[in-house]
Parts: sequence; structure tokens; C-alpha cells
Amino acid sequence: MRIDVLTLFPHWFDWFRSQRHVTNALHLGHELDFVDLRETTPLKAGQVDDTPYGGGAGMVIRVDVVEAALQARHGHAPPPHRTIALSPAGRQFDDALAAELAAEPALTLLSGRYEGFDERVNEHLATDVVSIGPYVLAGGELAAMVVADAVIRKLPGALGHEESAVEESFSSALEGAPEYPHYTRPFEWRGHEVPDVLTSGDHARIRQWRLEQSRSRRSE
Ligand code: 6GU
Repeated sequence: MRIDVLTLFPHWFDWFRSQRHVTNALHLGHELDFVDLRETTPLKAGQVDDTPYGGGAGMVIRVDVVEAALQARHGHAPPPHRTIALSPAGRQFDDALAAELAAEPALTLLSGRYEGFDERVNEHLATDVVSIGPYVLAGGELAAMVVADAVIRKLPGALGHEESAVEESFSSALEGAPEYPHYTRPFEWRGHEVPDVLTSGDHARIRQWRLEQSRSRRSE
């Protein structure tokens, strides 16, 4: 898989790139690039934004700037693959969407600042508009990292153990519910013991207990 993130702050992603599951994915042959929107802007002096038509506070990222960046990167605008604009007004990101995106051959993430993108970016250059939750961030960079993180950890081999991403919170293996609780040594800590079933050696009972715990953590 190839992931490109178009952003005004490519260096913010240096830390992201250094995480173990990301470096694992890169060693497996996946590609991850962070591209500065200012490098390909057709405007003078690295300008990427403009004042909003109709007035109001803040600046808006121009559609021609995003188009030029996509054209330079992919040779097409829109590119021939899933292109996600990060916006608090988008569809809320979840595990099912992460799994769907992890099956794509290529993804481009558009990460905006200020008041966001000109609506024509969302409508004509992106295939999806995605939010990471019902709150507002100062920009789309953290949202792009959240999406990329959740997608990359689903790539086979990225976590090191093939199974780790199968039976986890919100996965279909757990019926979309949060994950069951985990315990390790010591068996007893300040009077609090590990549930007996986990030391029973009865794997069928353990599986059943975990599924029940997971179901009981479901919020609805
Ligand atoms: Cl994708 N962007 C911003 N700026 N805020 C958000 C968000 C995205 N998702 C939730 N809040």
C-alpha cells in the first residue's frame, strides 16, 4: 500500500514515521510520504489559502492549490484512488472504515488547516470526507495521523504478530464491541486477584468469558 499525506506541516509527521508498526510496514514494502502543499502551489510566495467568499473569520485552503499538489504527486487530479479529506464535518472514522481503507492499494490524505478546504476539494478532488470525532482540532494533521495509524496497524505483518489486529476492540471478531480485559502477573495485587477462569487452562471457557466481557462493555 502507498499512503501520501498532503499537508502544510510535513515535519510534524517525523515522529509518526518512527513508530514500530509504521517502520514494520515500510520494511514490508509499503510506502508512506508526506508532501508539502506549499511546494507545488501555483500562487506566489508559497500562498495556499485565501479569504472566504461571503466574509467571516479565518482562511480557506484553495482548490487550485490542492489540485496542483495532487497533479504533481499522482499525475492526475483527482488521483485514481481513494482520497480522504480530513474535516470535522466529515463521516466519523471507525474500525470498519479503517479495515476498508487498509484493503486499498493507495490512499491520499488531505490534511487542512485554518477553516479547512474550499468545499470543491471535498466535492471534486476527494472521494471521502472523514472526521475522527465530534470535537474540533486546530488542524487536520493529528486526524491524518489517527487515520494512517489505524490503517497501517491493520496491514498484515505490521504489528509483528499476525493475530493481534483480529480479535481487538471494535473488530468483527468481537462483534464490534470493545475488547475484553487483560491481566498479567502478579496474580494478586493489593488484594485484587486475576479472574479464576483465566488460570483454569480451559480454553473454551476462556474464549466464552472473553466474548461475554466484550459484549458487556458495549455502550448501547
Ligand atoms: Cl479531520 N479535522 C479537524 N480540524 N478537527 C477534527 C477532525 C478533523 N476530526 C475531528 N475533529
